Amino acid sequence: MLREVDRGTGCFAFVKGDLADEGVVDGIFNQFHPNVVVSLAAQAGVRYSIENPRAYVDSNLIGFFNILEACRRYPVEHLVFASSSSVYGGNEKVPFSESDRVDSPVSLYAATKKSNELMAHAYAKLYDIPCTGLRFFTVYGPLGRPDMAYFGFTDKLVRGEAIKIFNYGDCKRDFTYVDDIVEGIMHVMTGPPIRATGKDSLPVAPYRLYNIGNSRPENLTEFVSTLGRVLVQEGVLPADFSIEDHMELVPMQPGDVPVTFADTSALERDFGFRPSISLEDGLRRFAHWYKGYYKI
Ligand SMILES: NC(=O)c1ccc[n+]([C@@H]2O[C@H](COP(=O)([O-])OP(=O)(O)OC[C@H]3O[C@@H](n4cnc5c(N)ncnc54)[C@H](O)[C@@H]3O)[C@@H](O)[C@H]2O)c1
Repeated sequence: MLREVDRGTGCFAFVKGDLADEGVVDGIFNQFHPNVVVSLAAQAGVRYSIENPRAYVDSNLIGFFNILEACRRYPVEHLVFASSSSVYGGNEKVPFSESDRVDSPVSLYAATKKSNELMAHAYAKLYDIPCTGLRFFTVYGPLGRPDMAYFGFTDKLVRGEAIKIFNYGDCKRDFTYVDDIVEGIMHVMTGPPIRATGKDSLPVAPYRLYNIGNSRPENLTEFVSTLGRVLVQEGVLPADFSIEDHMELVPMQPGDVPVTFADTSALERDFGFRPSISLEDGLRRFAHWYKGYYKI
């Protein structure tokens, strides 16, 4: 059911609806005829895909299929869509490059994101729709997802509870501040892959993939001590708070991977952009927002 909540001032309209409902997606394209589509909506998160796999099939497979079909029926200049670093699964070669094999997902979430890449490639080839997939690496920041580690850790520390550090802290993550992701998307939106005809007189798939990550993986224990420090400095935690007394080292979780590390040279080469906000700065901005938002 399509429910238009706010038509805004003419430059922004918010429509509440379910992507898995073909009529909703078709109705939006029919009404707005977008030139550029940025498809970020998805059921995100690795852990929840173990609890509720069907949500991933509905939103990420059927929902994304509906977006592709709409882009076919109402031709667009560019479809930009969110993929994920999780497609690299347990790959050991780092940094992760777009040309690496990604055939071994370790969660259904990762499998749906890899499927999105394949589905978009097929539509790019069949219907000459310029498509760009963006593999985001652990995005964090104000108003982020409460199910993500940095956010959940903060909630627990504020309540004085211990936080669980998976794989006994021996994990590395490439944390990317949300503003860097937004800037990356804005660069990519303006540069669709060029349409061309192949030797067979059919379109060469106008399709590209880019990593967007900080390219500076942090060890989980380092990350937690930085988080603890900025939470104290921003007044979210008391000055005498000891992060070491609130850490519990536990084994690896199903669906988790030991390391993520983005090679962003393709993004830099094609758009002259690379993420630049350091983990300390980004976590400080998150802590500042958290304090105001929860009125601590
Ligand atoms: N946050 C990360 O670290 C990260 C990393 C890699 C990739 N991604 C991808 O980036 C995108 C945004 O992620 P996020 O972290 O902001 O997640 P989020 O959960 O904050 O945002 C996703 C949005 O999609 C909407 N949505 C989900 N299913 C829908 C449906 N069926 N119909 C309509 N709307 C629906 C949700 O309501 C939500 O507003 C997702 O595609 C996610 O897979 C995120």
